[in-house]
Amino acid sequence: MMYSEKVMDHFMNPRNVGEIDNADGVGEVGNATCGDIMKIYLKIDDDKITDAKFKTFGCGSAIASSSMATELIIGKSIEEVMEFTNKAVVEALDGLPPVKVHCSVLAEQAVKSALLDYSQKTGRHIEGLDDFDFDDEHLHDDIHED
Ligand code: FES
Repeated sequence: MMYSEKVMDHFMNPRNVGEIDNADGVGEVGNATCGDIMKIYLKIDDDKITDAKFKTFGCGSAIASSSMATELIIGKSIEEVMEFTNKAVVEALDGLPPVKVHCSVLAEQAVKSALLDYSQKTGRHIEGLDDFDFDDEHLHDDIHED
């Protein structure tokens, strides 16, 4: 089978779908090649992600990746979320087919982009965010797990 049970579960029953009113940070990213778009909303209190929701217009793996990403970052500190990568999403999903790894990259980019929005709105500097390359579609694409 091409997709793990976890991917199928998060695709069929995605967690944290929707929007957050008055979100502290909103990030939207897209992949030019497949045209998929992912939007992530964060609620941040005391440097902690207290809630996260997503809206993804995209493939099943993108939906599963964003669902898993929100689960992984809720309750984490901003510092911990800066360490969060698409690799963590792929691992938590028990792997993605190589051609679908970019879907998890979108989830990492959407989360970081929501943090950037928060940083810009609040003036709070977040270490490592300035150097983050949101345009690099092949970011971490070297991770091929299946
Ligand atoms: S095919 Fe592009 S995000 Fe999944």
